[in-house]
Amino acid sequence: MAIQPSILVLNGPNLNMLGTREPQIYGAETLDDVEALCQTEAARLSVDLEFRQSNHEGELVTWIQEARGEHDAIVLNAGAYTHTSVAIMDALSAVDLPVIEVHLSNIFRREPFRHHSYVSMVARGVICGLGSHGYVLALQAACRLIDAANRPGA
Ligand code: DQA
Repeated sequence: MAIQPSILVLNGPNLNMLGTREPQIYGAETLDDVEALCQTEAARLSVDLEFRQSNHEGELVTWIQEARGEHDAIVLNAGAYTHTSVAIMDALSAVDLPVIEVHLSNIFRREPFRHHSYVSMVARGVICGLGSHGYVLALQAACRLIDAANRPGA
C-alpha cells in the first residue's frame, strides 16, 4: 500500500488558551477540539496529520526545519509571531514545502499591526476569519497542492 502524504499543523503562542481566551474573537472551541476536527478531516482526506502547539519561537523554527523529509505540507497558525517573526519566515523558505497560513479571526478587521504577516510572504495561500473551519479548508488546500506536485509531469 502506498505511503500516505503527511501534513504538519503548527500552532503558535497563546493558541493553547483557546476556549477561554477572548472567546468573542477566537470562539469557544479548545485547541483539542480543533485538533479533533483536523484529525477527522485528515482521515477523510487519507493523509497523516501531526498537530503541535508551542509558545516558543525557536521551537516552532526547529519543528519547521525538521518537517523537511517528514511532511509534505505545513498548515500554520503562527499566532502573534505571524506579525513579527522573520525567523519563522526564513525557516519556511528554507524547508521549501507548501505552506497554508491560517487564522481563526479575520486579522484585516482588527488592529493595523495585525495586517502585516511575514508568513504570508512565503505561504501558498491564506485563510482567515472562518474560525476552526479555516483549518479544515487549509487541509483541503494542502492536499490539492500535494496531489498536484505528485502528478506525473507536474
Ligand atoms: C491569530 C491572530 C493573531 O493576530 C493573534 O496574535 C493570535 C491568533 C488568529 O488565529 O486569529 O494569536 O493568529
